[in-house]
Amino acid sequence: MAADAFLQLENIVKTFDDGETLVKNLNLHIRKGEFLTLLGPSGCGKTTTLRMIAGFEMPSSGKIIIDGEDVTDKSPNERCVNTVFQNYALFPHMNIADNIAFGLKMKKVPKKQIEAKVQEMLKIVKLEGYESRMPSQLSGGQMQRVAIARAIINNPKVLLLDEPLSALDLKLRKQMQLELKHLQRELGITFIFVTHDQEEALTMSDRIVVMNKGDIEQLGTPEELYERPRTKFVADFLGETNILEGETIKVKETEVLLNLEEEKDIIRIPNLNYHIGDKFIVSVRPERIRIKDEVEEGDVWLQCKFKERIYIGSNIKTVMVLKNGKEIIVNEPIGQNFKFDDESAEVFVTWNPNHTVVIKA
Ligand SMILES: Nc1ncnc2c1ncn2[C@@H]1O[C@H](COP(=O)(O)OP(=O)(O)OP(=O)(O)O)[C@@H](O)[C@H]1O
Ligand SMILES: [Mg+2]
Repeated sequence: MAADAFLQLENIVKTFDDGETLVKNLNLHIRKGEFLTLLGPSGCGKTTTLRMIAGFEMPSSGKIIIDGEDVTDKSPNERCVNTVFQNYALFPHMNIADNIAFGLKMKKVPKKQIEAKVQEMLKIVKLEGYESRMPSQLSGGQMQRVAIARAIINNPKVLLLDEPLSALDLKLRKQMQLELKHLQRELGITFIFVTHDQEEALTMSDRIVVMNKGDIEQLGTPEELYERPRTKFVADFLGETNILEGETIKVKETEVLLNLEEEKDIIRIPNLNYHIGDKFIVSVRPERIRIKDEVEEGDVWLQCKFKERIYIGSNIKTVMVLKNGKEIIVNEPIGQNFKFDDESAEVFVTWNPNHTVVIKA
C-alpha cells in the first residue's frame, strides 16, 4: 500500500447482471486533499467507478478503503462520501435553505446549528440572500452551487462530482471551473471529478486518470499526461496531436534510427533493446512544430507542402502535407508564423527532438 493513499481501490472487478465485465482489475490510490479527475470517452466506466466509491453500486470483487477503513460492504450513508450529479438533483418542492440543510436534518442535528451551517454554506457558494427561493427560480449555475453546498455541508471525506458542469454554457462553465477549484483548495476535501472534456481535466486537476474500457490507461499530472503520454490513446485523447508512424531501420549500440512516414533516417531514439522492423508511434504536438524553408542542425524535419491555413484568434493553424499524403497540423503564434512566398514550394515541418514522444506500437 502506498503510504499516502487516502482512498484506495484494490483489485476492483465489476461484472453486471447481464454478465458483461466492465472493470477487470482496477487499482487506484488517491491522496488526501487531492483533486483527481477521471477522464475518458463515453462508456469507459467513469460513472460506474464513482458509484462504487459512493456505495450505490457493489464491486463484484475487490476492496474500497477510505481513510484506513474498509468500506466495501458499507451503505452509502455510512461512507463519509457525497456526490454532486450532472443534473443537480435538487428537491423541487424545497427551498434553497432546506435543500442545503437536508443532510444535517437527516442526521438530526439541532435546528440552531443547522441554520448557522446553512448560512456558512450560502456564503461559501456565494448565494447569500437566496435561502427562501425555490430551485425553479434559479439559473443553472446557481442550482449547481446549491447542489455543491448541499454536498459539502456535512463535511464529507471525499466529494464525488459526476460531470457537474456539463449542463452549463461555456462561459459559466469556465467560471465555475475556477470557483470549484478554489473551493476545493479552501475546504481541503478530496475531490474525484468526472469529465469527458480534456481541457477541463487539464485546467482543474492535480492528477488525471485516463480511462479506457474500464481500465486505467495512464495516471499522472496534467503536464505528465500531456507531455509524456505512454500510449497512443492518451496522446490522442489529451489535446490535439500529430500521430506519425515510425519503423526501426538501423540499430546501433546506444541508439536506433527510425524511418518516419516512409522518409529515411529521420529520428534517432535511445536503443532500449529494439530491433530492425520494430514499429513505433510518434506523437508531436502542433504547437511544437514550425514551418521552415531551411533545416537547422539537430532538428527533426520532414519535407512537405502547404495545404491550408485557419486563423484561430491568437494562433494560426496550418495544414501541411507530407510526400506520402499524410497531413501535419502546425500551430504557430501569430507574428511568428511562417510567411509563404510561394504556396506550392517544397518546405519543411521541423521540431526539436526533445518534443518527439515515441511510443512502441
Ligand atoms: N447496471 C448496468 N448493467 C449493465 N451495464 C451497465 C450498467 N451500468 C453501466 N453499464 C455499462 O457500463 C459501461 C460504462 O458505463 P458508465 O456509465 O460507467 O460510463 P461513463 O464512462 O460514465 O460514460 P459517460 O461519459 O457516457 O457518462 C457502459 O457500456 C454501460 O452500458
Ligand atoms: Mg457517466
